[in-house]
Amino acid sequence: MIIKNIGLLVGIQPEGVLRVEGEVQGQTGALENAWLAIEDGRIVDFGNSVIPSEASVSSAIDAQGGMVIPGFCDSHTHVVYAGSRDGEFLDKINGLSYEEIAARGGGILNSADLLHRTSEDELLKQSLGRVKEMMDKGTVALEIKSGYGLNKADELKMLRVIRRIGESVPAKVKSTFLGAHAVGRGFTHEAYVQEVIDMIPEAAEYADFVDVFCDEGFFTVEDTDRILTAAEHLLTPKIHANELAVSGGVQVGVKHKALSVDHLERTTDAEISALKDTWTMPTMLPGSSFFLGLPYGRAREFLKAGLGVALASDYNPGSSPSGDMRFVMALGCIRMRLTPIEAFNAVTLNSAYAMGVSTEYGSITRGKKAALILTQPGWDLTKLAYQYQTPFIRQIIL
Ligand code: NIG
Ligand code: FE
Repeated sequence: MIIKNIGLLVGIQPEGVLRVEGEVQGQTGALENAWLAIEDGRIVDFGNSVIPSEASVSSAIDAQGGMVIPGFCDSHTHVVYAGSRDGEFLDKINGLSYEEIAARGGGILNSADLLHRTSEDELLKQSLGRVKEMMDKGTVALEIKSGYGLNKADELKMLRVIRRIGESVPAKVKSTFLGAHAVGRGFTHEAYVQEVIDMIPEAAEYADFVDVFCDEGFFTVEDTDRILTAAEHLLTPKIHANELAVSGGVQVGVKHKALSVDHLERTTDAEISALKDTWTMPTMLPGSSFFLGLPYGRAREFLKAGLGVALASDYNPGSSPSGDMRFVMALGCIRMRLTPIEAFNAVTLNSAYAMGVSTEYGSITRGKKAALILTQPGWDLTKLAYQYQTPFIRQIIL
């Protein structure tokens, strides 16, 4: 198959580039008046001269001057949940903070109660609806966490649902065991940390990653260290850190070779130093900053220090009820002062890296999956972030 008359082909990267950091995050390959050829679902070639002869092509898509970019990669979501927390939305409007809502037994525990009462098939149905919504907005690969089960049976129920989602959509799905999201009802803190450790071997049959909410009022650095030690050789860490306080989560994540440390709304220079020369991708979630009124991550300083930055949606019922990665990219530009190219790389290649799929997704590269967004005519990356509410997608190729 060939896509012809592409006005702008953006996001071209040479083979083997799995993330972009520092100044390089501000660059991307682009071709005007281009074509792109797909075989067996993969990008086989592209260019802007000598279009392959019609004879070798089984079907053609006329891009009519639209832009073609790699689809969005969302490396941090909690889209498997039951029901809604719109009641807490009213509490929030009335002035309660995220921590105050959680302390009243709302928040994550509220979602856990709902999930416990919801059948596996119903949970799948509700969650699939959100994944389809994300795909319609251009997401082609996503990570999904457990963490609303908070006991063994319900955590495994979530992990099975994540697996079933991966089997039923064309988007790539990666799975994370987040047993340590909050202390489950009926457990003391200590007993629950041990319960999470005991769940690891079975969770590892389903999940790719392990996560801990290492933050004030949730799990300590010591808890995190114990859980990650128990998961060594079974699950690669991706850590929730520094959302509510400077938690030490970045450092313990780096110590355990986390693939990503996520949130980072509150970060000091010590976290930036800890991340240098590691394989860990700092991942910021501006949708949570927006929804909870938290500070935005200091992405500019991270880039200045030579680090890369990924952006993800954090789609969840409590702190970010949206999986719109184009809006995430726009917030990266509007509130974090990323350039459109830096923000674009943050929601494609770097977020693919942050869930271990950047060999297959996140850029226009020969051999990668043809997981693409074809836009209406007249779009470019700057307009995508600037005119951030105007519909732009003409077709998703997945
Ligand atoms: O990433 N911070 C912890 N977990 C989620 C929120 C989960 C919830 O409130 O349901 C987050 O923001
Ligand atoms: Fe999260």
